Amino acid sequence: MKPASILAAACLVLALGAGSAAAQGTVKIGVIAEFTGPFADYGTQIYNGMKTYIKLNGDTFGGKKVEFVVKDTTGASPELAKRLAQDAVTLDKVDILAGFGLTPNALATAPVATEAKKPMVVMNAATSVITKQSPYVVRLSHTLPQDTMPMAQWALKNGIKRAFTLVSDYGPGKDAEAQFVKTFTAGGGEIVGSVRTPLANPEFAPFIQRATDSNPQAIFVFLPPGSQTIAFIKGYEERGLKQAGIKIIATGDLTDDGVLEAMGDSTIGLITTFHYSFAHDSPENKAFIKAYAETNGTKLRPNFMAAGGYDGMAAIAEALKKTKGSTDPDALMAAFKGLKLNSPRGAIMIDPETRDIVQTVYVRRVEKVNGQLVNVEFDRFPDVKDPGK
Ligand code: PHB
Repeated sequence: MKPASILAAACLVLALGAGSAAAQGTVKIGVIAEFTGPFADYGTQIYNGMKTYIKLNGDTFGGKKVEFVVKDTTGASPELAKRLAQDAVTLDKVDILAGFGLTPNALATAPVATEAKKPMVVMNAATSVITKQSPYVVRLSHTLPQDTMPMAQWALKNGIKRAFTLVSDYGPGKDAEAQFVKTFTAGGGEIVGSVRTPLANPEFAPFIQRATDSNPQAIFVFLPPGSQTIAFIKGYEERGLKQAGIKIIATGDLTDDGVLEAMGDSTIGLITTFHYSFAHDSPENKAFIKAYAETNGTKLRPNFMAAGGYDGMAAIAEALKKTKGSTDPDALMAAFKGLKLNSPRGAIMIDPETRDIVQTVYVRRVEKVNGQLVNVEFDRFPDVKDPGK
């Protein structure tokens, strides 16, 4: 992309609601996320989730009207993400930074949050260490160790003793691998091999072959959802792993609700652990799904990133109510700590010590229900903290 078009994509400024409120009556949120390129659904889902919260709850909290300044990182682009965050703070005068689908973009922005003293609300990026990079980071999504530990425990309980790990070769993948190996071996399991696949354009066939050759009972997988998870499942199907009796176990990133239909029926029966399912049976989730479709149309099915955007916006709204509209960064951070919300995923809490999320992790199986592929929850691990801390 040419610099001019990056700028054009990055400078989309969007105010919700009619007319512009007086400057002192608004709170500006810089939404920095992936809106174009191979991860375009990440930013779109996050922002759709934020807008869904506004649709259901209005746009004014603690007397302040919310205004969004949206900036596109165009993918995993740490330098661009950092510059966009600096622009948001210095030129657009945002009060809060939000968004962040991908870890590299969140990690690059954390020093800007510290320097400018702006709360940074992470709505997906899930590498454990992100919250440690700035006292102004709070996370409303998940961490890979948090979703992985229950998977390793469930596998051991269900007779899996020999596993191979296959993860994407960057922060969340390395976190998932480390946690799986730790919990699985501590419980008596054996790791028969491990591979890490490149974040950009991986070719899965040789990796799947290596996994098959080491004859595991199961392959534990973390891949960022989208074209990669579609390609991986295709390879799994084509290379006859299912027929060979090799199971796939994974965090729910693999069976992302937004991508599941595109992956097709070969996903049926896959077991994953995760914090959000489109099929989660609760009044809060039903209201969320209905409002999401009314706000954003039905092209995308809301997924965990949409839930992260929705809950991140809910946390900002609750914090503003507590501070009575003050955007003082330390007052907002104090308001985030210990915050409890009834999320579409269930009850969630922000750990006051770590500013990271505490939540139920569900065990789910892909099933076809009323003609739709969904992740049906059938077991749960309540109140899971990030074990990486
Ligand atoms: C991340 O980059 O932190 C990330 C991306 C996609 C996921 C989870 C984590 O599904």
